Amino acid sequence: MRVTIFGTGYVGLVTGTCLADVGHDVVCVDIDAAKVDGLNNGIVPIFEPGLEPMVKSNHAAGRLRFTTDAGAAIGHGDVVFIAVGTPPDEDGSADLKYVLAVARTIGQHLKRTVVVVDKSTVPVGTADKVRATIKAELATRGESFEFHVVSNPEFLKEGDAVNDCMRPDRIVIGADDAGAVEKLKRLYAPFNRSHERIVVMDVRSAELTKYAANAMLATKISFMNEIANIAERVGADVEMVRQGIGSDPRIGWHFIYPGAGYGGSCFPKDVQALARTAQQHGYSAELLESVEAVNDRQKGHLFELMVRHYGSADALRGKTVAVWGLAFKPNTDDMREASSRTLLPQLWQAGAKVRAYDPEAHDEAQRIFGDRDDLLLCDSAYQALVDVDALVVVTEWKQFRSPDFGRVRDALRDKVVFDGRNLYHPDELEAMGLAYYGIGRGRSIKVDA
Ligand code: UDX
Repeated sequence: MRVTIFGTGYVGLVTGTCLADVGHDVVCVDIDAAKVDGLNNGIVPIFEPGLEPMVKSNHAAGRLRFTTDAGAAIGHGDVVFIAVGTPPDEDGSADLKYVLAVARTIGQHLKRTVVVVDKSTVPVGTADKVRATIKAELATRGESFEFHVVSNPEFLKEGDAVNDCMRPDRIVIGADDAGAVEKLKRLYAPFNRSHERIVVMDVRSAELTKYAANAMLATKISFMNEIANIAERVGADVEMVRQGIGSDPRIGWHFIYPGAGYGGSCFPKDVQALARTAQQHGYSAELLESVEAVNDRQKGHLFELMVRHYGSADALRGKTVAVWGLAFKPNTDDMREASSRTLLPQLWQAGAKVRAYDPEAHDEAQRIFGDRDDLLLCDSAYQALVDVDALVVVTEWKQFRSPDFGRVRDALRDKVVFDGRNLYHPDELEAMGLAYYGIGRGRSIKVDA
């Protein structure tokens, strides 16, 4: 099938590449000419495992093209995806300016019947706005082609996006037209081989499904972080509690890892946007507000543990701290809403210096923090340990999982490790002569009530 995709960010680029890989003829449109140029020359602007070779091979095969020419691209596709960003505006609602700009462009260039697919995470009711916007543009041109707007939310995870796209758990199609559903079923048939993954529903339910999925996962994380904070106070170990509850299939093992707070491009933004949608409809979503509040507080928790260890924030003045991991999670260079963006400024504010190492996120860190005397981006995890007082682990990259603790101990002047992702065992580190602080590990933290 012929497919057009607006937006070459995470969602648009991964979706377009995967659709091309199974044989569809895909044109991706972006307003950023430099990005389009780069992509046509095999330069993939994001780090996502497996994506670059797929972009190159499908581009070479002629099934995947990139352009800034929206008019020609709209002429190409039988299915036109909208996969542009929906950043939060000042009050946390999703800002639809990019989505509606694409809708206007579609209306200005449409010359035949197509299915327009909302792939961006958009508030309930957006499909109606997209439809109205396209219709209005057609009317200005004196045209009235038939077209359908479908909601088809994306559930891909950064770091595993290609896999999620090629082997989705489910494909949600929200549509009010049987013909449009059939078209999307044909488009997704290559991903729907072994068992039925397609769930068809009305447009608004599909729009809400995306938010519900992300809000549920964020809720699980904030819940566990809350349990972790209680564990610290009552002298329990949340890692034991996690194992004790995860075995209950009603709870499950996924997304119950406590840590330094969730980040990324989806959870923080979507929880907020859903709470704002509820508010706009006269409902106060107290659970969601709390999920967000608990997460905001959790991002400051590593610093709190450091203050607890050193006795005061002042005691951190003049210290140099090694930080392992800057990205919001492993296997990505993405630092959007990452916990490191809370921790590092807290350390700087307290008068400490940072030597940091992340396998992928140095360019991002440089872009975000700029050049500063109190930040050095190092070439390796051990390089970051040179001439420092303490180690803080912020992101659970695989290579941080079993370091040479003897080397770590010898390098750290203050012999203390703050483990924001509970990668290590308190006993093991303590046996090596290191003080250990994890998240919710009251046994080792020994907080007095
Ligand atoms: C998420 C959803 O998983 C995906 O379905 C949706 O389409 C987009 O949002 P992503 O943001 O890429 O994907 O990352 P994810 O792996 O879900 O992790 C989000 C954050 O939660 C990370 O900061 C991670 O460290 C944190 N997390 C995750 C925890 O703190 N504990 C957990 O148990 C799981």
